[in-house]
Amino acid sequence: MAKMVSGKVALVTGGGSGIGRETASLFASEGARVWVVDCSQESIEETVTSIGKRGGIAQGACVDVSDEAEVEATIENCIRAYGQLDCAVNSAGISGPQALLKDLTLEEFSRAVAINLNGTFVCMKHEIRAMESTGHGAIVNLSSGAGWIGTPGLGAYCATKHGVLGLTKTAALEMARSGVRVNAICPGSIDTPMLQASMAQGEAISAMIRSSMPIGRLGEASEVAEAALWLCSDRASLVTGISMAVDGGAVSR
Ligand SMILES: NC(=O)c1ccc[n+]([C@@H]2O[C@H](COP(=O)([O-])OP(=O)(O)OC[C@H]3O[C@@H](n4cnc5c(N)ncnc54)[C@H](O)[C@@H]3O)[C@@H](O)[C@H]2O)c1
Repeated sequence: MAKMVSGKVALVTGGGSGIGRETASLFASEGARVWVVDCSQESIEETVTSIGKRGGIAQGACVDVSDEAEVEATIENCIRAYGQLDCAVNSAGISGPQALLKDLTLEEFSRAVAINLNGTFVCMKHEIRAMESTGHGAIVNLSSGAGWIGTPGLGAYCATKHGVLGLTKTAALEMARSGVRVNAICPGSIDTPMLQASMAQGEAISAMIRSSMPIGRLGEASEVAEAALWLCSDRASLVTGISMAVDGGAVSR
């Protein structure tokens, strides 16, 4: 069977862990050359090495996605290395502080905004600029179920993930005639280091997370990667501006 993204170049932010790492690996095994972006050099090296061992092509760059100059430079470096940019999956993010809004400091709130929302914005901005000149491209942003519904105790995270959906829909409409498609994925509770850190905070939170999935189990990062792969592939040629739930039925309740 033909590989889904054969010959394409894919940039994956947050590619050092969890959903981003699985996405980078899947894109590489489906024929893409991958540019792995993360703020942890060690985790980038693990992803790149593991892709290389399986015969895939990947390079990495240590970048803070909230720093526009770093983002712009790494996209230029990706294009210098690979000659093009066809797909981007913006997965870098943090879960942010767990606190009621009335107890949340502006500093904590602003940090979540800087990484999850500003970071997604600057990545999209420079990915779009790189793609529009070629007349094609596909971007997938990682939002969350918390991008659709209020989430007590996660106000900062929730606000940023709602914002990611606003950016996604706007960019999809702005780019609709350019050949660049922009979509979002809203995962449920996915078993990654981010979720494990939340679950480690106590039995009550852990039980709440486990019960959040109607399917009766946590999701796997690889299951989210499959959705990103399809959205970035030419098989999704009519799909732009959507937010796709990959959540075992969580938002259908
Ligand atoms: N795991 C879940 O249950 C879940 C659910 C819904 C949405 N999401 C979203 O999916 C995305 C990936 O989450 P995950 O669970 O794989 O998390 P993760 O913590 O396993 O991976 C996130 C990666 O982002 C990187 N990162 C953080 N801040 C960065 C920055 N400033 N610049 C560059 N890289 C940075 C981290 O180093 C890490 O490698 C996030 O946007 C998250 O909000 C996750």
